[in-house]
Amino acid sequence: MSITNTTAEIPVSHSEDEVAFGFSELFFSRTDERGKIQSGNTVFQRVSGYSWQELLNKPHNVIRHSDMPRGVFWLLWDRIRRGLPTGAYVKNRSQDGRYYWVYAIVTPVEGGYLSVRLKPSSPVFCDVQAVYAEILACEAKEGLSPSQSATRLNERLIDAGCRDYDNFMAMSLLAEFQHRSLILCQGIPAAITSFNDLMTSANKLLSTAEAIADACNAYRFVPLNLIVQAGQMGSAGAAIGTISANYSMLSQEIQVNLATFFEAARRVSMTIHEGAFFLATSMVQEEISVVFENEPVTQNVDHLSEATKLRHQLTRYQAKAAENLRGIQRELKQFGEGTAGMKRLASGLAAIRVMGKVEAGRLGTTVLNDLICDLEAFQEKLNQGLNDIGNLNNGLCFNADQLEKLHASSEVGLRLDPSCDAAKV
Ligand SMILES: Cc1cc2nc3c(=O)[nH]c(=O)nc-3n(C[C@H](O)[C@H](O)[C@H](O)COP(=O)(O)O)c2cc1C
Repeated sequence: MSITNTTAEIPVSHSEDEVAFGFSELFFSRTDERGKIQSGNTVFQRVSGYSWQELLNKPHNVIRHSDMPRGVFWLLWDRIRRGLPTGAYVKNRSQDGRYYWVYAIVTPVEGGYLSVRLKPSSPVFCDVQAVYAEILACEAKEGLSPSQSATRLNERLIDAGCRDYDNFMAMSLLAEFQHRSLILCQGIPAAITSFNDLMTSANKLLSTAEAIADACNAYRFVPLNLIVQAGQMGSAGAAIGTISANYSMLSQEIQVNLATFFEAARRVSMTIHEGAFFLATSMVQEEISVVFENEPVTQNVDHLSEATKLRHQLTRYQAKAAENLRGIQRELKQFGEGTAGMKRLASGLAAIRVMGKVEAGRLGTTVLNDLICDLEAFQEKLNQGLNDIGNLNNGLCFNADQLEKLHASSEVGLRLDPSCDAAKV
């Protein structure tokens, strides 16, 4: 997926150098509720270039880079204050004026927030730099407020094909996770690959449901036109009039069901993207936990207490990921039932249309025949869409079952029982 347009340019800071850090070097910081830094690991401190004394109890904007659009931080705070985990690309400024980019996963913890960061490298990262440059320019040119800038950012991501910020987060975090694994010559965990497939199918599922809704809208007046035409034919049109009225009633029922059907497709997609984000988040949290536990103890950070907090957060997110997986299976089951209901209605519609076709043929009126042809075209789209959705749903169920099996064999490092010892790695 590309989220750039052709006019945007990636800002190249010739005057600044980048702070080097390795792809294997994850880092974290923890803040209080107002965003004042409470602790972190040695990579965080080293890359920032500040001493611990200069970092601790200081607002996190100490490392803010002026290339960052305000809208990104507005969006970040808006989400985390509502308890929502948030992933975002952030460009930071080190103490000596150099810069470094991170992909930050910020999650609420007791008394504040935790940000775990990795070095971004995926093609999405390139696209996002261009989008940020665009938004930054809009902030300056149009005097956008931070919340307006966040809205513009969301709109820009939607234009690029992301359904919303949650969708973008899942897609970007998985892209970064996978790209980093490749760079580090680590295998990509099977669960991540499965989620990637699930996200692709979920996106197709939603666009197919949208196409069905569009077709229903485009053809919604055809049965009414048939009724009008039949009325104009007097007693000769009585049979086709009744058939059209039945067709109209059934297609109205389809319209009503469509809203529920579409909402179910949306929930399937949302739950899958959320699950992908939870899973990748818990994997990154697992890694930072191990990294931190193996770090030399420094006097500025209470190592034991911090390690316990990281483990606790890991356990929470593993439980969230496991719970989400059950949610995906629930949503898929409901959606499958909704699809079966739509198929039943569609075959009822087909039977009535066939009767209409026979009657229109008997009457031999071109207008009626044309309208029946329109109904046929609509029905073809509906059936094709529902078949595609049936296949996608089967694929989704299969992938979700595979994930469940991976869980059961603990390959994903998740536990279905949140109370168990998720800390073991
Ligand atoms: C856990 C956590 C981590 C953060 N990490 C960064 C960061 O790495 N860089 C940054 O500029 N802002 C970070 N922020 C956001 C800052 O609090 C702040 O909103 C941002 O720097 C914008 O500052 P300003 O409002 O003074 O422009 C973080 C916030 C939280 C809660």
